[in-house]
Amino acid sequence: MSDPRPIGVFDSGLGGLTVVRAIMDDLPAEPIAYVGDTARFPYGPRPAEEIRRFAVQIAQYLLTLDVKLIVVACNSATSAALDQVTAAVPVPVVGVIEPAVRAAVRATRNRRVGLIGTEVTVSSGAYQRSFAESAPDVEMTARPCPRFVEFVERGDTTSVELLDEAHRYLAPLQDAAVDTMILGCTHYPLLRGAIRHVMGPDVLLLSSADETAADVYDILAAKGLLSEAVERPVHRFASSGDPERFAALGRRFLGPEVAGALHVPFDEA
Ligand code: DGL
Repeated sequence: MSDPRPIGVFDSGLGGLTVVRAIMDDLPAEPIAYVGDTARFPYGPRPAEEIRRFAVQIAQYLLTLDVKLIVVACNSATSAALDQVTAAVPVPVVGVIEPAVRAAVRATRNRRVGLIGTEVTVSSGAYQRSFAESAPDVEMTARPCPRFVEFVERGDTTSVELLDEAHRYLAPLQDAAVDTMILGCTHYPLLRGAIRHVMGPDVLLLSSADETAADVYDILAAKGLLSEAVERPVHRFASSGDPERFAALGRRFLGPEVAGALHVPFDEA
């Protein structure tokens, strides 16, 4: 049986499109309904309570589009609101933390793993709890890198200022001799080159995007919810901010699949 309903994906802005890229690569027959909450971006410095409210509101909007599964494609929203979103909707919900932790636990040889993310992602302790539950022998070193998101938003992936900041942010992870590092923010895969340059080729960089896509495949397959369509699916993109700006930047994050975007006025809701 084939299920043609879309997979709902949301993020505080454009970063979640790195997760969409991975889902489209693994599941090219699946239509995607994406919401970027750009009017209220960034989530990283916001209180967890506020992020919970936003995340549940967006998940409920996605239900009106008849989604069959929801991906919280934002580390900040997963850290603060995964349980609340799961409780609020009748469809399966996938966050970006568990898949990344699982991959890191599998990959690390010296049992020292680094995590970089936004302030709320690091301070919520969500990654720390996940490691403590699944692999208490792994020593995790976490570092918030709030300015990385600004650089990505400016399209700056190579400047001297960025590299100086990367050296500063990543020094504690180098001191901790991590052999595996989680890019715990959906923007960071776009800084992979700079981060690899600073950390060196021996540190494995894991993005939550690829691991999350694998989880989405497994859940849809287990529940008999995969689409078996052979024609190209129609994707929908929506943003709470300027939809034209979203579509233009979205093409940089994802590619030509972002043909246009709708405006959903969450800020006024
Ligand atoms: N999607 C957000 C995250 O993964 C990007 C940054 C933000 O909203 O602060 O944490």
